Amino acid sequence: MSAIEKFIAEIPKAELHLHIEGTFEPELMFEIALRNKLKLKYNSVEELKAAYNFNNLQEFLDIYYSGADVLIEEQDFYDLTWAYLQKIHSQNVLHTEIFFDPQTHAVRGVPFSKVISGIRRALEDGQTKLGISSKLILSILRHLSEESAIKTLEEALQYKNWITAIGLDSSEKGHPPSKFQRIFEKALAEGFLTVAHAGEEGPPEYVWEALDLLHVSRIDHGNRSLEDPELVAELARRNIPLTVCPLSNLKLKVVRDMTKHPLTEMLDKGLLVTVNSDDPAYFGGYVNENYLAVANALNLTKEQIVQLAKNSFSASFLEETEKQRMIEKVENFSNRL
Ligand code: ADE
Ligand code: ZN
Repeated sequence: MSAIEKFIAEIPKAELHLHIEGTFEPELMFEIALRNKLKLKYNSVEELKAAYNFNNLQEFLDIYYSGADVLIEEQDFYDLTWAYLQKIHSQNVLHTEIFFDPQTHAVRGVPFSKVISGIRRALEDGQTKLGISSKLILSILRHLSEESAIKTLEEALQYKNWITAIGLDSSEKGHPPSKFQRIFEKALAEGFLTVAHAGEEGPPEYVWEALDLLHVSRIDHGNRSLEDPELVAELARRNIPLTVCPLSNLKLKVVRDMTKHPLTEMLDKGLLVTVNSDDPAYFGGYVNENYLAVANALNLTKEQIVQLAKNSFSASFLEETEKQRMIEKVENFSNRL
């Protein structure tokens, strides 16, 4: 292991952009399909993995949704979440904020209660057995209707204590944040925080809409914000975090190669940027592999890596005292060296 690899592996960090359905590793997918007596479109793990070649977001989403189709029982959601927590425990992730997409499962008749209870039970075990704290973010699928989103939000109200924020994901182009303005207003009125995927494939205008119409606390991705200097200034002035996902950006061709990734430009412009894995089972790496990919391609310094780790806590939805306690852990780690 190289010195930088070891540094990244050991530094305490949080993950803030992670779709639980995107952590579904092929081996577990086949195991769960078998016990639910369902057939996958692929005959083997190798065949499935060979399909993980994407030219854009939509090509990925098609495979991601078909993988999620085998999740039926509460135990399936538990196993999925528990496998992710064990993995990040080995990567020194101390806190995670997880997206889940209840609409993906509702269309197959899987009730909201099974989805959230399985995830929640694993998160509770994550806290007690692994010491990992967590928050849950319910993500609305933007390619579906406002009506479907309303129904989902209404179901979520019963689980208010388990859900911190409402997010927006899925096919970005043609589905601007403005489509969900009313839902997000209701979510805010009910006391949820809001976040949205914006500027991954969509234009800077979608980032403006997420800020102005959805009143988001964070932007997920946000890469294309850099095309608009006024937007960059606004994000910096308001200290709005960007949850950036380098390997995702590479696999979905948001960036041509990792040396062209805008992460350093974002840091240089004073943006509160964090590094995350998005859908690690599909994009070739969990959070540490994402740090390592940018560290190598962009020649990040140790100071920049420390900054990213501190940002991951300051951009989180942890309480202020807890954020400070975590940031001190990062400082103690870096001072030790
Ligand atoms: N759902 C899961 N991963 C996503 C991504 N990177 N962008 C939009 N929706 C998603
Ligand atoms: Zn995402």
